[in-house]
Amino acid sequence: MSQKIQAIRGMNDILPEQSIWWQWVEENIIALASAYGYQEIRPPVVEKTELFKRSIGEVTDIVEKEMYTFEDRNGDSLTLRPEGTAGCVRAVLEGGLIHNQSQRLWYRGPMFRHERPQQGRYRQFYQLGMEAFGFAGPDIDAELILITANLWQRLGLTSGVTLQLNSLGDPESRARYREQLVAYYQSHHAALDDDSRRRLESNPLRILDSKNRQMVEINRNAPQFFDHLDHGSREHFDQLCRHLERCGIAYEINPRLVRGLDYYSKTVFEWVTDRLGAQGTICAGGRYDGLIPQLGGRESAAVGFALGMERLILLLQQTEEAPPLARSPHAYLLLLGDAAQQQGVAIAEKLRQQLPRLRLTLHCGGGSLKSQFKQADRRGAEVALILGDDEVASATIGFKPLRERREQQQLTMSQLHSQLQQLIEGEK
Ligand code: HAM
Repeated sequence: MSQKIQAIRGMNDILPEQSIWWQWVEENIIALASAYGYQEIRPPVVEKTELFKRSIGEVTDIVEKEMYTFEDRNGDSLTLRPEGTAGCVRAVLEGGLIHNQSQRLWYRGPMFRHERPQQGRYRQFYQLGMEAFGFAGPDIDAELILITANLWQRLGLTSGVTLQLNSLGDPESRARYREQLVAYYQSHHAALDDDSRRRLESNPLRILDSKNRQMVEINRNAPQFFDHLDHGSREHFDQLCRHLERCGIAYEINPRLVRGLDYYSKTVFEWVTDRLGAQGTICAGGRYDGLIPQLGGRESAAVGFALGMERLILLLQQTEEAPPLARSPHAYLLLLGDAAQQQGVAIAEKLRQQLPRLRLTLHCGGGSLKSQFKQADRRGAEVALILGDDEVASATIGFKPLRERREQQQLTMSQLHSQLQQLIEGEK
């Protein structure tokens, strides 16, 4: 036997036992997206490397260390998308979607970052993101946060997640703050770790985000951006807070929240939990008004978020035993004898045509009555339908409920139809 080929480290299979969780979460998100008027967009997984360098920023962990970049057969430098915002902006510009109009969009799909894998951190992971273009006010920032809060509620996540907020101001106030920050760190130069010294030149705001204990100490006394915010950003932020308060959404202001991507200005936010160890951010986003002109478009406001599907599901699995939406079959059709084997496929198909919401699994491959019943039970079917040669001759079918103590009945096809209809309609 040849050796088995294994999956790539940090890139996981989502097996059926897990995928029911994914479907449950995605169904809720899709319902919410349409409830709030967001439309789906599906940009490709691969983009020109330049797109990510220009948007996420050259001096970020993602661009410096984590991208899957390769040369294709034409010699072009391409990259597997490490996040969804850049591709979404490129697509709306290319498709003329924000020319004199606003847009509310959502997307889902795999992202790729060459990080060190651990629980909640993978090399291929899935994001669900929403982006709104052409809205400058804090109302849309609030709306996006409310969508996520609404999602947690629908999924039964009523505690254990905290909303953190900050404002990164406009580019001018950020430049002024940056100068103050550099002066502060220079006065503590001897105590800085290597990473922070490097960032001091290139991206000093990121030092605030450092998890290194010695840096956490130094950061405690660093000047706070909040004290240097421009008037407009301050006003925007205050109004956002008022919207959230009116909707009963609790938040914490975290002045050290800077995010790992360079495109943000004004509002930034993260939903964090302490139940997932080090990878506790389940959802993150903010405003990025400067990105569209940076990618060649006309000045336009933009704000969005992305949630990490794996992290959200890990968190849900800590509190729920099974997703409420386990999609087991309504019925499992058992076939006994030659005539039944021959007719079974067509009979099952006819039932599916007549009852489009019916979930019917057909037994394939023969076997004894006992083994077929076992299969029906293992698949979680509500009822077993038994088709033997006698039933084929008399145009009837055996109907045996599997989840309650009830005798098997012999039904005509029209009786079967109404029994199955009742099963479907009785479902929540
Ligand atoms: P991000 O903070 O880089 O932001 O990622 C968003 C979320 O994706 C994280 O909060 C986390 O839940 C999940 N995530 C990130 N990296 C990994 C990983 N290696 N393994 C598992 N999950 C991960 C963005 O990507 C921005 N594009 C968000 C955004 C949209 N901002 C505005 N619009």
